[in-house]
Amino acid sequence: MKKYERFWPIYIFGVLLTCSAFAAESEDYDAAAGYQATCFACHGTGQAHAPVVGDLIEWEIRAEKGFETLVKNTISGLNGIMPARGLCADCTDQQLRAIVEYMLEESK
Ligand code: HEC
Repeated sequence: MKKYERFWPIYIFGVLLTCSAFAAESEDYDAAAGYQATCFACHGTGQAHAPVVGDLIEWEIRAEKGFETLVKNTISGLNGIMPARGLCADCTDQQLRAIVEYMLEESK
């Protein structure tokens, strides 16, 4: 996974390719369900001023930080308002990564 790097949102086509590569790696995990289970509470509603999934401009700005940064901020939390691991204590790093991927996919 270390070499799983890319540059959002410049290479939109590259993103599509890496997404399919990624899907093959985490077939057994349902990122949409994981998102609904925890992240949706904030990211579906804008609760605590969370960036709402589906808000294209909001996520385009965040995506510019780079996918790896978004994953890192998800794991460690951000600014005291995005809780570490998005409050999903049971989620593995890999699963959180899949959910961030899903959130970005739903927001472009
Ligand atoms: C308690 C509310 C809450 C929950 C639950 C939550 N988030 Fe967040 N999230 C936030 C807020 C608020 C921000 C904006 C933080 C900021 O920009 O200062 C944020 C930001 C983010 C970002 C953008 C990080 C960045 O660097 O800009 C990602 C990615 C993210 N959340 C993923 C997730 C995932 C994945 C989950 C579920 C596993 C989750 N969040 C659950 C509140 C939440």
